[in-house]
Amino acid sequence: MASPLADRFTQTFRTEHREIRDTLLDLVDAFLAGDQKRARTLVSRTAQLAGPHFRYEEESLYPFLVAIFGQDYIEKLLHDHDGAIDAAKRLVVLSAKERLDDAERQEAVRLVRSILPHVSDCDGLSIMVERLPDGQIESIFTTRERALAAGLDLLRWAAGVRSRTSYQPGA
Ligand SMILES: [Fe+2]
Ligand SMILES: [Fe+2]
Repeated sequence: MASPLADRFTQTFRTEHREIRDTLLDLVDAFLAGDQKRARTLVSRTAQLAGPHFRYEEESLYPFLVAIFGQDYIEKLLHDHDGAIDAAKRLVVLSAKERLDDAERQEAVRLVRSILPHVSDCDGLSIMVERLPDGQIESIFTTRERALAAGLDLLRWAAGVRSRTSYQPGA
């Protein structure tokens, strides 16, 4: 049985991934429909949702999960984040255009879809969070609150605060 705190984490985590999933799927639709104004709004919403989310994952959740998965898989998760950040940067540029040609539209859709597997993979981590001590789950929630209060969007966090090297072995 999972603790009530772990259950609360699972619910919270699922809700956040749902919001990000729906925003990304709406973004695919907006690009396919040629609705660049809506695409800009959705790119910005993705960045607002993913900023604090990635931040507390990297500052608290992922480091705790090293004890369960080992470093290699955590490195893979961080690498997924690197890819999502790069995709978001390019999506800002593409969505800023008045209109996209076919190649650009295909690129935009491919970039959005490239982020989707991490959303579902990441949600599955909550099955492992059930095995963390409640004290660590508390600490993840605290880090989450701080990240939400700081409210940096994905690109501002990545450019100014993110420390990609702090979870290397021995760091
Ligand atoms: Fe996540
Ligand atoms: Fe993640």
